[in-house]
Amino acid sequence: MSEKQPVKVAVTGAAGQIAYSLLFRIANGDMLGNEQPVHLNMLEIPQALGALEGVCMELEDCAFPLLAGMDTFDDPARAFEGASYVLLVGARPRTKGMERKDLLEANGRIFTEQGRALNDNAPDDVRVLVVGNPANTNCLVAMENAPDIPRERFTAMTRLDHNRALAQLARKTGVPVSRITRMTIWGNHSTTQYPDVFHALVDGRPAFDAIGRDRNWLENEFIPTVQKRGAAVIEARGASSAASAANAAIDHVRDWALGTANGDWVSMAVPSDGSYGVDEGLVSSFPCRCAGGNWEIVQGLEIDEFSRSRIEASVAELREERDAVRSLGLVPA
Ligand code: NAD
Ligand code: LMR
Repeated sequence: MSEKQPVKVAVTGAAGQIAYSLLFRIANGDMLGNEQPVHLNMLEIPQALGALEGVCMELEDCAFPLLAGMDTFDDPARAFEGASYVLLVGARPRTKGMERKDLLEANGRIFTEQGRALNDNAPDDVRVLVVGNPANTNCLVAMENAPDIPRERFTAMTRLDHNRALAQLARKTGVPVSRITRMTIWGNHSTTQYPDVFHALVDGRPAFDAIGRDRNWLENEFIPTVQKRGAAVIEARGASSAASAANAAIDHVRDWALGTANGDWVSMAVPSDGSYGVDEGLVSSFPCRCAGGNWEIVQGLEIDEFSRSRIEASVAELREERDAVRSLGLVPA
């Protein structure tokens, strides 16, 4: 048994699909390391507390050595008390034919309330990952409603897109994902996102060379496949991605908490400081390196005309989403 004090991790939407994969991985030590005990604070709406009881029984039945305790809540204020990591998963998923931003009105309010609850109850060391869609703008809503929490503690998930891009590139080049580095997703977790291979390395050499400088594949297969993968999963499975989303959330928080590997970077949606011409304050995906529990945007990458126009298209969409949540009154004016 570890000597470390347990760390509290709050997960919202705890009786949902993603949580059903996520909670067990966290309790197994996959997120914070196999010497770090965790205490789970699980939040649900009152109608789902019964189902959540069943999840708790299963967690108990796993006898995870690192699971130091668990509590269930239907009040975000109480769920976030003492939580060093807060994973905001609870939100409605889209169904066939919807875009993620169609969820803005339905889900946005959840993040206003939860942003306020974080502001008033979360401890000083809180770090927040927003998974519920539309993730970037829900993160913006939570962050804008939590003015006392440093902005850099709010992030949204584009790691699933990052992992999807790695997998597609591995498939094309025949090289295992473990030998691909420096992948980047820019912009929004939506169909405008820009998966960028121009800085990626395959076995240490430029990915563009490794794909035979095949622009046709890049523009007509790779980019659209990654952009539309969420919809393809919904089409095939009849429900949105869950295990892969949980896996990406684990990857995101693990790298943020424990650091990115030597020289490599990961994609995280973070509040922009104006880097690469992205409007300050928008929550946009960037290449990030993490150390000591902090992330920083990788600077100095050369962005050509092709990449620039794609990044700008995604940022324009983020701007529209920000204006929409402003006009819905979800963020303070
Ligand atoms: P789900 O419907 O299976 O589960 C969502 C859960 O959230 C439900 O149990 C619901 O009761 C709960 N919930 C609703 N409102 C809540 C609130 N105010 N507080 C706490 N809990 C609340 O959905 P899911 O498949 O687990 O997906 C959850 C969200 O994650 C969706 O918005 C989905 O689109 C999104 N998602 C994001 C990514 C990403 O890459 N960023 C990937 C996959 C899914
Ligand atoms: C995904 O990318 O799989 C999720 O955001 C779910 C969705 O709606 O596409």
